[in-house]
Amino acid sequence: MDRPHRGPAGPALARGAPMTANQPGTVNILEARGLAKSFGETPALRGASLAVRQGEIVAVMGPSGSGKSTLLHCLAGILVPEEGEVWFGGQRLDTFGDDKRSALRRDRFGFVFQSGQLVPELTAEENVAMPLLLSGTRRGPAITAARKWFSVLGLDGLQHRRSGELSGGQAQRIALARGLVAEPAVLFADEPTGSLDSVSGELVMDLLTGAVRDRGTTVVLVTHDAQVAAYADREVIVRDGRVSTLTGTMP
Ligand SMILES: Nc1ncnc2c1ncn2[C@@H]1O[C@H](COP(=O)(O)OP(=O)(O)O)[C@@H](O)[C@H]1O
Ligand SMILES: [Mg+2]
Repeated sequence: MDRPHRGPAGPALARGAPMTANQPGTVNILEARGLAKSFGETPALRGASLAVRQGEIVAVMGPSGSGKSTLLHCLAGILVPEEGEVWFGGQRLDTFGDDKRSALRRDRFGFVFQSGQLVPELTAEENVAMPLLLSGTRRGPAITAARKWFSVLGLDGLQHRRSGELSGGQAQRIALARGLVAEPAVLFADEPTGSLDSVSGELVMDLLTGAVRDRGTTVVLVTHDAQVAAYADREVIVRDGRVSTLTGTMP
């Protein structure tokens, strides 16, 4: 990466710290530098670099198989790249061991994937509460926090449904609530509307962008859909495992 790194974001990243504004900041909360990652003989990333500013929504676009999900997984500490560096708020997370990366994902990151992946045995509110339960919040307060999301996302009355009793759009809004309930610093969304019709997809994107802008949450949004990318502050394109900037200005 040829731009200077802005250095640790420091106190601005502290949990619960007030956001200065609901505008993207000037600090890079997340940065990939020259990532390479292969699966066997298949190169997925070949020198991918991306800087994400605190509070911005970045759409990562590109054709199927170009490396978008692999880039997201490296940024989120799910995968470790073979080359390059991943920085989150002044910490180089690709050097962390499995346990430290898991803890970081659990405590600071939220996730929404293409098809909600709700736990079918649990009620909707238990699914939403799951990230809080996993980080040690007691059941009562976790369920209370989860319930708040049902009115925010237009899900009132669905708290006790199981995933088999929900429409695709409802299930995806519940997955969104689960991704946001622990107030993550970064929400990683991989084709979050990919399995929805366009009306449900627009509703999910309206709710997602509304919720994150209210909270100053940073979003890495992988999509191959230009209508979904239009919700972002900035778009980048991944081609053959490398990132190119399409619109907007880099920090
Ligand atoms: N777990 C995996 N095992 C083998 N090959 C993979 C795996 N994940 C991704 N790939 C390959 O890496 C390349 C990039 O994949 P991916 O990051 O999923 O692309 P995208 O999300 O843009 O569709 C593709 O050629 C894909 O087949
Ligand atoms: Mg993908």
